[in-house]
Amino acid sequence: MELLKRIFTTLVTIFASVSSVNAKEHHYTSCALSENPYSSPQPYSPRQHSTSCPGRAHRHTSGSSGSSSDQSCRNNNNVAAAKARFYGHGVTTSYGEMCYHDNSLVSASLEALIQHLVPTVDYYPDRSYVFTFLLSSRLFLPPYELMTRVCHLCVEQQRSGDALLDKIRFREVAPKLVQLLTEWTETFPYDFRDERMMRCLKDMTLHVARGDEVTMQQMTQRLIKRLSALGQYEEAVAALNVVAMERPASLKSKQASAQRSDVLSVCDDPFVLAQQLTHIELDRLSFIGPEEFIQTFAMKDPLENHKGFFRKRKTSNLEAYVSWFNRLSYLVATEICMPMKKKHRARIIEFFIDVAQECFNIGNFNSLMAIITGMNMSPVARLKKTWNKVNTDKFEILEHQMDPSSNFSNYRTALRGATQRSETAHSSQEKIVIPFFSLLIKDIYFLNEGCASRLPNGHINFEKLWELAKQVSEFLVWRQVVCPFDRERRILQYLVTTPIFTEDELHLASYESEGPENNMEKDSRRSLRSSLLHRENRT
Ligand SMILES: *[C@@H]1O[C@H](CO)[C@@H](O)[C@H](O)[C@H]1NC(C)=O
Repeated sequence: MELLKRIFTTLVTIFASVSSVNAKEHHYTSCALSENPYSSPQPYSPRQHSTSCPGRAHRHTSGSSGSSSDQSCRNNNNVAAAKARFYGHGVTTSYGEMCYHDNSLVSASLEALIQHLVPTVDYYPDRSYVFTFLLSSRLFLPPYELMTRVCHLCVEQQRSGDALLDKIRFREVAPKLVQLLTEWTETFPYDFRDERMMRCLKDMTLHVARGDEVTMQQMTQRLIKRLSALGQYEEAVAALNVVAMERPASLKSKQASAQRSDVLSVCDDPFVLAQQLTHIELDRLSFIGPEEFIQTFAMKDPLENHKGFFRKRKTSNLEAYVSWFNRLSYLVATEICMPMKKKHRARIIEFFIDVAQECFNIGNFNSLMAIITGMNMSPVARLKKTWNKVNTDKFEILEHQMDPSSNFSNYRTALRGATQRSETAHSSQEKIVIPFFSLLIKDIYFLNEGCASRLPNGHINFEKLWELAKQVSEFLVWRQVVCPFDRERRILQYLVTTPIFTEDELHLASYESEGPENNMEKDSRRSLRSSLLHRENRT
């Protein structure tokens, strides 16, 4: 839960900072909305479900299925029932029930859901079902177990007692099983970082006919390529982090930090800087697996008996992305607090306001929010003499857009605008939507927490799983965008590796820029000086 703690710290910081800005006064005028670059922002219409929990009529009932007229619970799905009649072996109604409401699956036993995933000669599960169940089934059983059971059922249901006949029958269904495994490997490749998954895949390759075997081998090769790209990415991120951590000692006193180049010496064009930030965001986003959203929350669930699987960290790309947000906030604060001259600090603030504005225009809400967060950190916010030299009109409009009040309603409207622009885009630049990521995680977290995964009768609340899948699949569309801007290696390198101040160092640098204003600040400076500079002298 370390990740969650960090996300909530971020959100709390944002709440605190923005509300303090609001308290200062600031009359936001209606021009705020006319600044919106998205062609047709729809009026904000809160969704009916916004606070309610998916899971109709189940929340207060206890087990009994006394339900409305159009809700039906079937013993098993039709396909399985047909299958049971046809082969007369093994497959019976013992898979439990599936409940539908207006033809959409609302709840079912885990057994029935697993069975629903298993293809037969004349049945293949619906694509949205495959995605939804593969995504969320990990709340109930680890992927390895699901895969084993699906493959086993697929083979078993063909059994007649005659070995040769079984083989022929299995070959008839095999193309569909291969299709299912292909969807699995392409949408959730990281599940296959588990050797047991790979072994199961190999086993199936041995079982299928020659034509399917080729398909399986190609699928496996694509999978291995994806996984090795992931491995390289993880190593690269780890290496960059080492570089970023390497030289912080030189920053501890302002004199020494004067030798560090500042952002303006690397890039003084806010458009270019916003574009490079967008590169970093999209790079990191592209490596997050859809299952990481669910896995973050699955760990504490009733999976005590699956410790082996969940002990390994399965959300590292998501964590790396959240760390990037924090890094960018601290980088902005460091750049502002470091210069000795007030004029120089003011110029940097103005520069970052322009960068933030451009991030907003691009649809890069995550960098935008990180920059706003950096500007509102207390070491920056207290630099009153510096802020007095800055024209903050543009910044106030941006803050208003990202205002947390009413559940971030302004931001959600802007996000919807960006999403619509993306859907009708003619250029890849218009396709870009980068959500404020911590909020996305928070929404998914509350959806998961606020809703029981199981109903009192032991069935799985599938309406909740549909809703989780909806939110995650929206993210998958955003993740696909190819960043259209030119890469500027030097700037990228600077953004991801240049040393940044810690919180204490920021405070000290801030006091060195504009001296303490009261006794509390004086005490704080004294203790920071002795602890930080003392440590520096020792190293
Ligand atoms: C905030 O809005 C989101 C998206 O509409 C919704 O999922 C969430 O439940 C809302 N949270 C609260 C506390 O109302």
